[in-house]
Amino acid sequence: MVREIVGWVNREDRLFAKQITNGVAGTAGEHVYFKPQGVADAVMATRVSKCILPIDFKSEFKDTWTMDAPNGKKVNSFFCGAGGFDLGFIRAGYDVAGAWDFDEYAVQSYRHNIGDHVQKADVSKMKGEDIPKTNGWLFGFPCQDISSAGRQSGMIKGVTRSGLFYEVMRLLGEVEEKPEWILAENVKGVSKLSSIIQEEYSKVGYTLVSPQLYNTKFWRLPQKRERYFLLGIRKDVRKSFNFPEQSTEFIPELGSVLETEVDKKYHINAQKSAEIIGHADGCDLTKYYVRKLTPREFARLQGFPESYEQVVSDSQFYKQMGNAVSVNVAYAIAKAIDDQL
Ligand SMILES: C[S@@+](CC[C@H](N)C(=O)[O-])C[C@H]1O[C@@H](n2cnc3c(N)ncnc32)[C@H](O)[C@@H]1O
Repeated sequence: MVREIVGWVNREDRLFAKQITNGVAGTAGEHVYFKPQGVADAVMATRVSKCILPIDFKSEFKDTWTMDAPNGKKVNSFFCGAGGFDLGFIRAGYDVAGAWDFDEYAVQSYRHNIGDHVQKADVSKMKGEDIPKTNGWLFGFPCQDISSAGRQSGMIKGVTRSGLFYEVMRLLGEVEEKPEWILAENVKGVSKLSSIIQEEYSKVGYTLVSPQLYNTKFWRLPQKRERYFLLGIRKDVRKSFNFPEQSTEFIPELGSVLETEVDKKYHINAQKSAEIIGHADGCDLTKYYVRKLTPREFARLQGFPESYEQVVSDSQFYKQMGNAVSVNVAYAIAKAIDDQL
């Protein structure tokens, strides 16, 4: 039987080696790297530049999606994308009153799977009066200018994509009744900007709780993904909040999210496969084929439920899943906010 190898390399080996963790994928763009169970680090290190190893461990995927009872609270979601952030809150019992994104494909996915409350809109053109009153605001604002893989031009008002942060601050100044809390999400690089964020939150009436870094792999998803969450609490509400603790005891295997039957269109061509695995022991192309992760596997890596349907092209879906807040992480924070605020 020809066995499958998942993943491919088209960046430098250095970056590849850096991203590998035990059986956990890193979804940096479309690149997926993993190390199978039982392969020693030293062995992996010698092979890493040449080969991605075959998967010998696969279990039937289990969708553990459950819904908590409605809690009567509402949120708004800016830059909602396909709705990863929102799904975490919906799962915890929240209702989403308004959701906005200017990408028509993200809006298509969101509308089909989550609800008609989503609108295609440029947040920089919105007005306070367009925004329903809610308990909280979610905003996973664009990260291109903050991430180390991106342009690093920073959060500049009216100039960079990440400067859209200031548009949310503007809207907070325009609404008649401010939400009790606001929650931003962004890449690791945002920590360098936390004093600016603290100042901006304060100007519009919020206290920034100490920024919290979470790694998706510690939230029962086999993906190494670190993101900061920046919670602001309205000054008249309360001052403190305890983020849920991340348990580092269990990291699921990548094999737990893989599909058993994969369409051939996800197989990598022979020449590229040979480049990837050509020189390594046991990676004989007559015995193995190489494939990339499927869109469904991307959705599983982010904690989306199996019922979430793909209604856009593969490339749009990969992008939307790659952009999303990991649902499991959003859910844990949503529950803590529900308990404490
Ligand atoms: C990091 S993604 C958000 C992902 C989303 N929070 C989730 O969990 O699925 C950023 C989103 O901002 C949207 N966006 C960028 N600029 C925008 C703008 N000016 N107005 C509205 N949406 C914008 C992009 O289309 C993208 O979907």
